[in-house]
Amino acid sequence: MEIRIERILPGGVGLALADGKTIFVSLAAPGDHLSVRVDRQQGDVLFASVVEVLTPSPVRIEPPCPYFGRCGGCDFQQLTYEAQLAAKADIIRDCLQRIARLDHVPEITVHPSPKQWRYRVRATWQIDQGTREIGYYERGSRRVCDVEYCAVLLPELQETLEQVRSTEWAEFPPDLKHLDVVRGEDDVSLAPAFGEFDTNELSLRVGNEVYEYNAESFFQINPALLPELIEFALGDAAGATALDLYCGVGLFTLPLARRFVKVIGVEANPVAARFARRNLEQAGLTNARVTTASVAGGIRNTDSVEFILLDPPRAGAESVVIKGMLDLQPTRISYVSCDPATLARDLRKLIAGGYTIDSIGGFDLFPQTHHVETVILLRRSL
Ligand SMILES: C[S@@+](CC[C@H](N)C(=O)[O-])C[C@H]1O[C@@H](n2cnc3c(N)ncnc32)[C@H](O)[C@@H]1O
Repeated sequence: MEIRIERILPGGVGLALADGKTIFVSLAAPGDHLSVRVDRQQGDVLFASVVEVLTPSPVRIEPPCPYFGRCGGCDFQQLTYEAQLAAKADIIRDCLQRIARLDHVPEITVHPSPKQWRYRVRATWQIDQGTREIGYYERGSRRVCDVEYCAVLLPELQETLEQVRSTEWAEFPPDLKHLDVVRGEDDVSLAPAFGEFDTNELSLRVGNEVYEYNAESFFQINPALLPELIEFALGDAAGATALDLYCGVGLFTLPLARRFVKVIGVEANPVAARFARRNLEQAGLTNARVTTASVAGGIRNTDSVEFILLDPPRAGAESVVIKGMLDLQPTRISYVSCDPATLARDLRKLIAGGYTIDSIGGFDLFPQTHHVETVILLRRSL
């Protein structure tokens, strides 16, 4: 069938309307006139893929990566970089209107990434020892797409990919299905360790702080944009007590400890929590402590706080965490999120609980993909 793409939706798919049906088309550009094949139907919604670009959108470009379309990693390479940023602003707006039910969404700026390619310092490589393939999952499947070269990886990590790929298969642990890999200032860390590859401890300077971490702990994948992200997420916050929920190795805990008298970080992964404590100690910050706990449990044991920063995984914050935050009644909340849909779900509850939005910022931590980091600053109004 022939369709025209109206805009890009959350999840990165293009939206088209035809014959009373809603059609979701992957790897499309807004304004494209396409011939598509319907892959499956769910009620009045059709899921389709591009057969032929009949008239390309003015923002469509030739995807430079030879794996584009097959590899499940990058789904925005068909868009100019400006169009990627515009689509991400639309995605955030759509979630805030449809899921958070905001009547008026303020203007959203998505801060561009200093690097649009070769920016990733962290990746997970899938390994199929049966077919002897190493790379990323194929689009919409759990088959491994064998990738020799990845255009969004930092060049040093590309070298590591090549080293892993040239390792004798006999050296791989028989049950190894994926490898987590991360780069620091001058070394690489892999988990699990095997053969010549170690789970090294790394360090990296971000703004004025130095962070240590390894491949068993979370670290943001695009460090070049982190100083801007941290500055926006903290705003002009300062005062007596702050909470940093889902704090990882302390990316926000350290700068918060420079502005608040007391800071409490909560992190479930013991490896990350240990690095967070060490990072605070090496920065000489004795006014912050980090609890190794799930936030759902950790938030119950907290007294009054003025400021809460939360940066949960894609699933967002558990209901009990939102309830715990509302019970604490902080003057301000900074919600950092890598999934606008779960952010909007939680935001709705925070607004119902008496908070209003001060500002919204988008940060393009993930160029060439539909993913976007969003920060929403909230203030207690009741
Ligand atoms: C998106 S990362 C953010 C980490 C940190 N704020 C940063 O920017 O580097 C989310 C973190 O939450 C942790 N986490 C996941 N579920 C959790 C839970 N239920 N309670 C506490 N921490 C959790 C993960 O281990 C991870 O370190």
